[in-house]
Amino acid sequence: MKKIMVVFGTRPEAVKMAPVVLELKKYPHEFKTIVVSTGQHREMLKQILKLFKIRPAYDLGIMRKNQSISDIIANSIRGLEKIFIKEKPEMVLVQGDTSTAFAAGLAAFLHKIAVGHVEAGLRTGNKYNPFPEEVNRRLLSSVADLHFAPTKTSAKNLIKENIDPKTIHVTGNTVIDALHLALREKPFDNEGDDSNRRLQKMILVTVHRRESFGAPLKEICAAIKTIAKEYGDKIKIILPVHRNPNVLHTANKILGKIKNVKLTEPLDYHPFVHLMKQAYLILTDSGGVQEEAPGLGKPVLVLRRTTERPEAVLAGTVKLVGDKKEVIIRETKKLLDNKVAYVKMARAVNPYGDGKASPRIIKAIRSYFKL
Ligand code: UD1
Ligand code: UDP
Repeated sequence: MKKIMVVFGTRPEAVKMAPVVLELKKYPHEFKTIVVSTGQHREMLKQILKLFKIRPAYDLGIMRKNQSISDIIANSIRGLEKIFIKEKPEMVLVQGDTSTAFAAGLAAFLHKIAVGHVEAGLRTGNKYNPFPEEVNRRLLSSVADLHFAPTKTSAKNLIKENIDPKTIHVTGNTVIDALHLALREKPFDNEGDDSNRRLQKMILVTVHRRESFGAPLKEICAAIKTIAKEYGDKIKIILPVHRNPNVLHTANKILGKIKNVKLTEPLDYHPFVHLMKQAYLILTDSGGVQEEAPGLGKPVLVLRRTTERPEAVLAGTVKLVGDKKEVIIRETKKLLDNKVAYVKMARAVNPYGDGKASPRIIKAIRSYFKL
């Protein structure tokens, strides 16, 4: 019996780890699965765990309003260390690039516990973009014993960094497993309130990246405002606003009073997935949404200067548009006005997996432990 500790703290980690936890639990004679939340996110994490019916055995509850990255790391390491000493797991699984993931990987390494890194090998090559995620990923690759690369491209990035190929497994991204689970739930009709819906094109927007705070975020919101005003009743823009006070403040200030822009609280995963399905077009700086939307056949304009997810860009369904107002307006208008350009992008492509990443991950863990 191997004790596997699954650590996460934020919304995207919970989405992408949920299928891994559910899969691990299918092997109760081989694995004791212990779920630990650092609580880097609070409300936004609960929203996800509810859908997947996952209850952490430990919750460090570290979140503070407008927290600093150093606080997240220091408080996570201190809290996790106590749990590691008590539970003595044989492996710690972490996901992605957040400060929780990095802190958990480092803490496990310091206790000589094997580290499995889910979603390994994504790179932009720019250490300040995304910040601090690019460096979190690089540091995690140096402490991990098992690297679960979602695509061949991410596996190649690891090989270039001299990671032993025998420890790299190309699995697909568990976000597609999660998406399939959510799509299995009954359709959600939360946006069915609007009788004009069928006549309107709905644009779904999410923004939250730290490197966009300040001027870039203002430009992004100003672009949305211009588009909303120009198209009036022909479009409806929905923006579930991230709870980060930097985002809340700017979004409310610039977009709070625009008639066809609806600012909402962050949505539960299930309604959010169904909103993606209803959208005509998605504007986002989210990593997860960039991976989910192409599978649903929705064109995505990425509100960032770099992306560590080049696969859907190469496939032509995702376009990097940056954070300059004029470019965002131009590219959005193109998709709203030019049917040919729209149809070219609105194809379902799925470079991120077939929904079976979690079984592949568990297979690799069983083989690591010779089970
Ligand atoms: C974090 C991750 C980022 C990831 C994002 C996903 C780091 C450094 N950043 O960024 O990689 O893409 O999560 O959303 O790990 N807040 C709440 N309630 C919540 C969540 C957040 O009130 O449920 C507020 C708090 O004031 C908190 C702030 O948002 O201090 C920022 O949260 P934090 O986790 O530090 O950063 P994110 O921008 O969410
Ligand atoms: N998401 C959600 N509700 C929302 C917005 C996003 O459930 O209101 C989901 C989304 O489908 C994706 C994940 O949250 O799976 C992405 O999280 P986020 O954009 O916060 O982080 P990132 O992926 O950029 O790290």
